[in-house]
Amino acid sequence: MSDINNLDKPSDPRFGVGPSLIPQEFVSSLLATGNEYLGTSHRKPNVIKVVKEIQEGIKKYFKLSDDYLVVIGNGGASFLFDMIGLGLVEKKSAHFCCGEFSNKWLKAHQNIPWIETENYSVELGKGINPRDVEGADMICATLNETSTGVIINDVPDLSETDKLLAIDATSGGGQISIDMQKVDVFFLSPQKVLASEGGTYVAILSPKAQARAKKIAADTKRYIPNIMDWVSSMDYAEKHQTLNTPSLSSLFFLNEQIKRMNKLGFEKVEELAKKKAKLLYDWAAEKEYLEAFVKEDQYRSHSVAVINVLGDIDLDNLLAELTDKKIAYDIGGYRKIGKKQFRIGLFHNIAYEDLAKLLKILSYKIESLLN
Ligand SMILES: Cc1ncc(COP(=O)(O)O)c(C=O)c1O
Repeated sequence: MSDINNLDKPSDPRFGVGPSLIPQEFVSSLLATGNEYLGTSHRKPNVIKVVKEIQEGIKKYFKLSDDYLVVIGNGGASFLFDMIGLGLVEKKSAHFCCGEFSNKWLKAHQNIPWIETENYSVELGKGINPRDVEGADMICATLNETSTGVIINDVPDLSETDKLLAIDATSGGGQISIDMQKVDVFFLSPQKVLASEGGTYVAILSPKAQARAKKIAADTKRYIPNIMDWVSSMDYAEKHQTLNTPSLSSLFFLNEQIKRMNKLGFEKVEELAKKKAKLLYDWAAEKEYLEAFVKEDQYRSHSVAVINVLGDIDLDNLLAELTDKKIAYDIGGYRKIGKKQFRIGLFHNIAYEDLAKLLKILSYKIESLLN
Protein backbone atom coordinates (compact mmCIF):
# COMPACT_ATOMS: atom_id res chain seq x y z
CA MET A 1 0.00 0.00 0.00
CA SER A 2 1.27 3.49 -0.79
CA ASP A 3 2.18 5.78 2.00
CA ILE A 4 -0.20 8.57 2.93
CA ASN A 5 1.43 9.27 6.24
CA ASN A 6 3.39 12.22 4.93
CA LEU A 7 0.32 14.14 3.73
CA ASP A 8 -1.40 16.70 5.97
CA LYS A 9 -4.18 14.96 7.91
CA PRO A 10 -7.56 16.59 8.61
CA SER A 11 -7.86 17.78 12.22
CA ASP A 12 -10.95 15.58 12.69
CA PRO A 13 -11.82 12.34 10.86
CA ARG A 14 -15.59 12.62 11.31
CA PHE A 15 -16.75 13.25 7.74
CA GLY A 16 -19.58 10.72 7.94
CA VAL A 17 -23.20 11.63 7.25
CA GLY A 18 -24.37 11.07 10.79
CA PRO A 19 -23.93 10.77 13.63
CA SER A 20 -21.80 13.78 12.88
CA LEU A 21 -18.94 15.63 14.43
CA ILE A 22 -19.76 16.95 17.90
CA PRO A 23 -17.14 19.61 18.74
CA GLN A 24 -14.90 18.85 21.70
CA GLU A 25 -15.83 22.26 23.19
CA PHE A 26 -19.42 21.08 23.53
CA VAL A 27 -18.26 18.04 25.47
CA SER A 28 -16.08 20.26 27.69
CA SER A 29 -18.99 22.64 28.29
CA LEU A 30 -21.16 19.71 29.28
CA LEU A 31 -18.47 18.52 31.68
CA ALA A 32 -18.33 22.02 33.16
CA THR A 33 -22.00 21.81 34.19
CA GLY A 34 -20.78 19.42 36.93
CA ASN A 35 -23.70 18.31 39.07
CA GLU A 36 -26.04 21.10 37.92
CA TYR A 37 -27.44 19.49 34.79
CA LEU A 38 -26.84 15.79 34.00
CA GLY A 39 -28.77 13.66 36.43
CA THR A 40 -31.31 16.39 37.25
CA SER A 41 -35.03 16.38 36.54
CA HIS A 42 -36.33 17.32 33.12
CA ARG A 43 -39.31 18.93 34.85
CA LYS A 44 -37.09 21.39 36.75
CA PRO A 45 -35.61 24.79 35.79
CA ASN A 46 -32.10 23.70 34.76
CA VAL A 47 -33.37 21.46 31.97
CA ILE A 48 -36.43 23.55 31.14
CA LYS A 49 -34.08 26.47 30.49
CA VAL A 50 -32.13 24.43 27.91
CA VAL A 51 -35.29 23.28 26.13
CA LYS A 52 -36.57 26.86 26.06
CA GLU A 53 -33.28 28.09 24.62
CA ILE A 54 -33.43 25.39 21.91
CA GLN A 55 -36.99 26.33 21.00
CA GLU A 56 -36.23 30.05 20.90
CA GLY A 57 -32.94 29.47 19.10
CA ILE A 58 -34.64 27.41 16.40
CA LYS A 59 -37.35 30.02 15.91
CA LYS A 60 -34.74 32.72 15.57
CA TYR A 61 -32.58 30.68 13.19
CA PHE A 62 -35.49 29.83 10.90
CA LYS A 63 -37.14 33.25 11.35
CA LEU A 64 -40.41 31.76 12.58
CA SER A 65 -43.26 33.69 14.13
CA ASP A 66 -44.44 33.02 17.67
CA ASP A 67 -47.35 30.85 16.60
CA TYR A 68 -45.03 28.07 15.38
CA LEU A 69 -44.35 25.40 17.98
CA VAL A 70 -41.07 23.53 18.37
CA VAL A 71 -41.88 20.10 19.76
CA ILE A 72 -39.03 17.96 21.04
CA GLY A 73 -39.34 14.29 21.87
CA ASN A 74 -37.76 10.87 21.89
CA GLY A 75 -37.40 8.46 19.01
CA GLY A 76 -35.86 10.49 16.19
CA ALA A 77 -37.12 10.99 12.66
CA SER A 78 -38.05 7.32 12.18
CA PHE A 79 -40.40 7.56 15.14
CA LEU A 80 -41.96 10.64 13.58
CA PHE A 81 -42.63 8.78 10.33
CA ASP A 82 -45.22 6.79 12.31
CA MET A 83 -46.30 9.59 14.61
CA ILE A 84 -47.03 11.88 11.66
CA GLY A 85 -48.94 9.18 9.80
CA LEU A 86 -50.99 8.30 12.84
CA GLY A 87 -51.69 11.75 14.17
CA LEU A 88 -51.46 14.29 11.36
CA VAL A 89 -52.78 12.64 8.18
CA GLU A 90 -56.54 12.71 7.82
CA LYS A 91 -57.13 10.48 4.81
CA LYS A 92 -54.25 10.44 2.40
CA SER A 93 -50.58 11.35 2.20
CA ALA A 94 -48.65 11.81 -1.05
CA HIS A 95 -44.95 10.94 -0.94
CA PHE A 96 -42.18 12.21 -3.17
CA CYS A 97 -39.51 9.55 -2.91
CA CYS A 98 -35.94 9.53 -4.13
CA GLY A 99 -34.11 7.13 -1.84
CA GLU A 100 -34.01 5.03 1.28
CA PHE A 101 -35.40 7.46 3.83
CA SER A 102 -38.22 8.92 1.78
CA ASN A 103 -39.26 5.33 1.02
CA LYS A 104 -39.14 4.37 4.69
CA TRP A 105 -41.47 7.22 5.47
CA LEU A 106 -43.85 6.08 2.72
CA LYS A 107 -43.78 2.51 4.07
CA ALA A 108 -44.57 3.73 7.59
CA HIS A 109 -47.73 5.40 6.26
CA GLN A 110 -48.62 2.41 4.09
CA ASN A 111 -48.78 0.33 7.28
CA ILE A 112 -51.55 2.48 8.73
CA PRO A 113 -54.83 0.85 7.72
CA TRP A 114 -57.03 3.94 7.85
CA ILE A 115 -55.03 6.22 5.60
CA GLU A 116 -54.18 5.97 1.92
CA THR A 117 -50.87 6.83 0.33
CA GLU A 118 -49.76 7.87 -3.11
CA ASN A 119 -46.20 7.38 -4.25
CA TYR A 120 -44.24 9.56 -6.68
CA SER A 121 -40.77 8.10 -7.05
CA VAL A 122 -37.71 8.62 -9.13
CA GLU A 123 -34.75 6.32 -9.54
CA LEU A 124 -31.82 6.60 -7.16
CA GLY A 125 -29.63 9.60 -7.91
CA LYS A 126 -32.46 11.61 -9.46
CA GLY A 127 -34.34 14.43 -7.75
CA ILE A 128 -38.03 15.21 -7.43
CA ASN A 129 -39.72 18.29 -6.01
CA PRO A 130 -42.99 17.85 -4.14
CA ARG A 131 -46.19 19.31 -5.58
CA ASP A 132 -49.83 19.51 -4.65
CA VAL A 133 -51.72 16.27 -5.22
CA GLU A 134 -55.47 16.14 -5.55
CA GLY A 135 -57.14 14.24 -2.74
CA ALA A 136 -54.08 14.21 -0.48
CA ASP A 137 -54.25 16.16 2.77
CA MET A 138 -50.53 15.83 3.42
CA ILE A 139 -47.65 16.20 0.98
CA CYS A 140 -44.45 14.51 2.20
CA ALA A 141 -40.92 15.15 0.96
CA THR A 142 -37.34 14.83 2.14
CA LEU A 143 -35.21 17.96 2.18
CA ASN A 144 -31.98 16.03 1.77
CA GLU A 145 -32.12 12.35 0.88
CA THR A 146 -29.15 11.10 2.87
CA SER A 147 -28.81 7.88 0.91
CA THR A 148 -28.29 9.57 -2.46
CA GLY A 149 -27.28 13.19 -1.74
CA VAL A 150 -30.36 14.61 -3.47
CA ILE A 151 -32.15 17.75 -2.26
CA ILE A 152 -35.44 19.40 -3.04
CA ASN A 153 -35.30 23.00 -4.18
CA ASP A 154 -38.93 24.01 -4.51
CA VAL A 155 -42.08 23.32 -2.52
CA PRO A 156 -45.75 23.96 -3.29
CA ASP A 157 -47.68 26.78 -1.63
CA LEU A 158 -50.54 25.07 0.20
CA SER A 159 -51.34 28.06 2.39
CA GLU A 160 -54.76 28.64 0.83
CA THR A 161 -55.75 24.99 1.33
CA ASP A 162 -56.36 22.68 4.31
CA LYS A 163 -53.42 20.52 3.26
CA LEU A 164 -50.18 20.17 5.16
CA LEU A 165 -46.68 20.15 3.71
CA ALA A 166 -44.42 17.89 5.80
CA ILE A 167 -40.67 17.89 5.27
CA ASP A 168 -38.17 15.42 6.69
CA ALA A 169 -35.21 17.75 7.17
CA THR A 170 -32.99 15.30 9.04
CA SER A 171 -29.76 15.66 7.09
CA GLY A 172 -30.23 19.11 5.56
CA GLY A 173 -32.26 21.15 8.04
CA GLY A 174 -30.24 24.21 9.01
CA GLN A 175 -28.06 24.51 5.92
CA ILE A 176 -30.34 23.88 2.94
CA SER A 177 -32.82 26.64 2.32
CA ILE A 178 -36.50 26.05 2.05
CA ASP A 179 -39.39 28.49 2.34
CA MET A 180 -40.40 27.81 5.94
CA GLN A 181 -43.62 29.80 5.48
CA LYS A 182 -44.83 27.02 3.21
CA VAL A 183 -43.86 24.15 5.51
CA ASP A 184 -46.28 22.89 8.17
CA VAL A 185 -44.28 20.05 9.67
CA PHE A 186 -40.51 20.44 9.50
CA PHE A 187 -38.77 17.69 11.40
CA LEU A 188 -35.37 16.19 11.98
CA SER A 189 -33.13 14.04 14.08
CA PRO A 190 -30.36 16.29 15.36
CA GLN A 191 -27.34 14.02 14.76
CA LYS A 192 -26.46 15.64 11.42
CA VAL A 193 -26.20 19.41 10.80
CA LEU A 194 -27.27 20.07 14.37
CA ALA A 195 -24.36 18.12 15.86
CA SER A 196 -26.22 16.36 18.61
CA GLU A 197 -26.98 12.68 19.08
CA GLY A 198 -29.55 10.29 17.72
CA GLY A 199 -32.68 9.31 19.62
CA THR A 200 -34.25 12.76 19.84
CA TYR A 201 -36.64 14.40 17.41
CA VAL A 202 -37.35 18.03 16.71
CA ALA A 203 -40.62 18.90 14.95
CA ILE A 204 -41.55 22.45 14.02
CA LEU A 205 -45.32 22.74 13.63
CA SER A 206 -47.15 25.56 11.88
CA PRO A 207 -50.45 26.76 13.35
CA LYS A 208 -52.23 24.72 10.66
CA ALA A 209 -50.38 21.55 11.69
CA GLN A 210 -51.20 22.16 15.35
CA ALA A 211 -54.87 22.55 14.46
CA ARG A 212 -54.77 19.31 12.44
CA ALA A 213 -53.26 17.43 15.39
CA LYS A 214 -56.05 18.62 17.66
CA LYS A 215 -58.74 17.79 15.13
CA ILE A 216 -57.50 14.22 14.65
CA ALA A 217 -57.02 13.70 18.39
CA ALA A 218 -60.67 14.64 18.90
CA ASP A 219 -61.66 11.66 16.76
CA THR A 220 -61.77 9.12 19.57
CA LYS A 221 -62.15 6.16 17.20
CA ARG A 222 -58.60 6.51 15.95
CA TYR A 223 -56.00 4.59 17.95
CA ILE A 224 -52.86 6.57 18.65
CA PRO A 225 -50.34 5.20 21.18
CA ASN A 226 -49.86 7.54 24.14
CA ILE A 227 -46.18 7.99 23.36
CA MET A 228 -47.18 9.35 19.92
CA ASP A 229 -49.82 11.73 21.19
CA TRP A 230 -49.29 15.05 19.41
CA VAL A 231 -51.59 17.03 21.67
CA SER A 232 -49.78 15.99 24.87
CA SER A 233 -46.42 16.51 23.17
CA MET A 234 -47.53 19.99 22.12
CA ASP A 235 -48.74 20.77 25.65
CA TYR A 236 -45.35 19.79 27.02
CA ALA A 237 -43.61 21.83 24.33
CA GLU A 238 -45.56 24.91 25.46
CA LYS A 239 -44.04 24.32 28.91
CA HIS A 240 -40.55 23.78 27.43
CA GLN A 241 -40.62 20.11 28.28
CA THR A 242 -40.79 16.74 26.57
CA LEU A 243 -43.55 14.16 26.87
CA ASN A 244 -41.25 11.66 28.55
CA THR A 245 -37.69 11.68 29.86
CA PRO A 246 -35.23 12.99 27.25
CA SER A 247 -31.49 12.50 26.84
CA LEU A 248 -30.10 15.54 28.62
CA SER A 249 -26.72 15.36 26.90
CA SER A 250 -28.41 15.40 23.48
CA LEU A 251 -30.43 18.46 24.42
CA PHE A 252 -27.28 20.15 25.67
CA PHE A 253 -25.33 19.53 22.45
CA LEU A 254 -28.29 20.58 20.33
CA ASN A 255 -28.54 23.86 22.21
CA GLU A 256 -24.81 24.54 21.84
CA GLN A 257 -24.98 23.96 18.09
CA ILE A 258 -28.01 26.17 17.58
CA LYS A 259 -26.30 28.94 19.53
CA ARG A 260 -23.20 28.50 17.37
CA MET A 261 -25.19 28.60 14.12
CA ASN A 262 -27.26 31.57 15.28
CA LYS A 263 -24.07 33.58 15.66
CA LEU A 264 -23.65 33.33 11.89
CA GLY A 265 -27.28 33.14 10.80
CA PHE A 266 -28.84 30.81 8.24
CA GLU A 267 -27.59 32.61 5.13
CA LYS A 268 -23.96 32.52 6.20
CA VAL A 269 -24.18 28.89 7.32
CA GLU A 270 -25.62 27.93 3.95
CA GLU A 271 -22.99 29.95 2.10
CA LEU A 272 -20.24 28.05 3.95
CA ALA A 273 -21.88 24.74 3.13
CA LYS A 274 -22.08 25.68 -0.56
CA LYS A 275 -18.40 26.60 -0.54
CA LYS A 276 -17.49 23.12 0.70
CA ALA A 277 -19.85 21.55 -1.83
CA LYS A 278 -18.19 23.46 -4.65
CA LEU A 279 -14.76 22.29 -3.55
CA LEU A 280 -15.93 18.71 -3.50
CA TYR A 281 -17.94 18.63 -6.73
CA ASP A 282 -15.22 20.55 -8.61
CA TRP A 283 -12.74 17.94 -7.40
CA ALA A 284 -14.97 15.12 -8.66
CA ALA A 285 -15.42 16.87 -12.03
CA GLU A 286 -11.69 17.33 -12.45
CA LYS A 287 -10.66 13.72 -11.84
CA GLU A 288 -11.34 11.24 -14.60
CA TYR A 289 -11.76 8.43 -12.07
CA LEU A 290 -14.58 10.23 -10.22
CA GLU A 291 -18.06 11.54 -11.02
CA ALA A 292 -20.88 13.07 -9.02
CA PHE A 293 -23.63 10.50 -8.47
CA VAL A 294 -26.33 13.17 -8.84
CA LYS A 295 -26.23 14.43 -12.42
CA GLU A 296 -28.85 17.16 -12.18
CA ASP A 297 -27.09 20.17 -10.71
CA GLN A 298 -30.20 21.66 -9.15
CA TYR A 299 -30.79 18.55 -7.01
CA ARG A 300 -27.19 18.12 -5.87
CA SER A 301 -26.86 18.41 -2.12
CA HIS A 302 -24.65 20.81 -0.22
CA SER A 303 -25.15 18.75 2.92
CA VAL A 304 -24.27 15.22 1.81
CA ALA A 305 -22.18 14.65 -1.32
CA VAL A 306 -22.16 11.30 -3.09
CA ILE A 307 -19.30 10.64 -5.51
CA ASN A 308 -18.89 7.57 -7.73
CA VAL A 309 -15.44 6.05 -7.90
CA LEU A 310 -14.90 4.75 -11.43
CA GLY A 311 -11.39 3.42 -11.21
CA ASP A 312 -10.67 -0.24 -10.67
CA ILE A 313 -9.64 -0.03 -7.04
CA ASP A 314 -10.51 -1.88 -3.88
CA LEU A 315 -12.56 0.84 -2.22
CA ASP A 316 -13.33 -1.17 0.93
CA ASN A 317 -9.64 -1.53 1.51
CA LEU A 318 -9.05 2.17 1.01
CA LEU A 319 -11.89 3.08 3.39
CA ALA A 320 -10.48 0.70 5.98
CA GLU A 321 -7.06 2.34 5.69
CA LEU A 322 -8.60 5.81 6.13
CA THR A 323 -10.38 4.61 9.26
CA ASP A 324 -7.32 2.88 10.59
CA LYS A 325 -5.19 5.97 10.16
CA LYS A 326 -7.91 8.19 11.65
CA ILE A 327 -8.10 10.25 8.45
CA ALA A 328 -11.78 9.77 7.64
CA TYR A 329 -14.48 7.66 9.24
CA ASP A 330 -17.68 6.40 7.64
CA ILE A 331 -17.40 7.89 4.15
CA GLY A 332 -18.58 4.84 2.22
CA GLY A 333 -21.70 5.02 0.04
CA TYR A 334 -25.14 3.80 1.01
CA ARG A 335 -24.97 0.00 0.92
CA LYS A 336 -28.16 -0.59 -1.01
CA ILE A 337 -27.08 1.58 -3.96
CA GLY A 338 -24.48 -1.07 -4.58
CA LYS A 339 -21.93 1.20 -6.28
CA LYS A 340 -18.40 2.19 -5.38
CA GLN A 341 -19.03 5.53 -3.78
CA PHE A 342 -17.85 8.09 -1.29
CA ARG A 343 -20.59 9.72 0.72
CA ILE A 344 -19.18 12.71 2.52
CA GLY A 345 -20.84 14.99 5.06
CA LEU A 346 -20.66 18.73 4.36
CA PHE A 347 -22.21 19.54 7.71
CA HIS A 348 -21.56 22.88 9.35
CA ASN A 349 -18.91 21.65 11.80
CA ILE A 350 -16.78 20.03 9.11
CA ALA A 351 -14.06 22.54 8.31
CA TYR A 352 -13.35 23.58 4.72
CA GLU A 353 -9.62 23.14 5.33
CA ASP A 354 -10.16 19.61 6.63
CA LEU A 355 -12.22 18.72 3.60
CA ALA A 356 -9.50 20.09 1.32
CA LYS A 357 -6.92 17.92 3.12
CA LEU A 358 -9.13 14.86 2.83
CA LEU A 359 -9.60 15.37 -0.91
CA LYS A 360 -5.85 15.64 -1.42
CA ILE A 361 -5.33 12.39 0.43
CA LEU A 362 -8.08 10.65 -1.54
CA SER A 363 -6.61 11.83 -4.86
CA TYR A 364 -3.13 10.77 -3.90
CA LYS A 365 -4.27 7.40 -2.68
CA ILE A 366 -6.53 6.56 -5.64
CA GLU A 367 -3.96 7.75 -8.17
CA SER A 368 -1.25 5.65 -6.59
CA LEU A 369 -3.52 2.62 -6.65
CA LEU A 370 -4.44 3.16 -10.29
CA ASN A 371 -0.85 3.62 -11.45
C1 LIG B 1 -33.30 11.86 5.74
C2 LIG B 1 -33.39 10.98 6.93
N1 LIG B 1 -34.60 10.72 7.46
C3 LIG B 1 -34.74 9.94 8.52
C4 LIG B 1 -33.66 9.34 9.13
C5 LIG B 1 -33.86 8.48 10.31
O1 LIG B 1 -33.34 9.11 11.44
P1 LIG B 1 -33.22 8.33 12.81
O2 LIG B 1 -32.27 7.20 12.58
O3 LIG B 1 -32.69 9.36 13.75
O4 LIG B 1 -34.59 7.88 13.17
C6 LIG B 1 -32.38 9.56 8.61
C7 LIG B 1 -31.21 8.93 9.22
O5 LIG B 1 -30.10 9.00 8.76
C8 LIG B 1 -32.25 10.40 7.49
O6 LIG B 1 -31.04 10.64 6.97
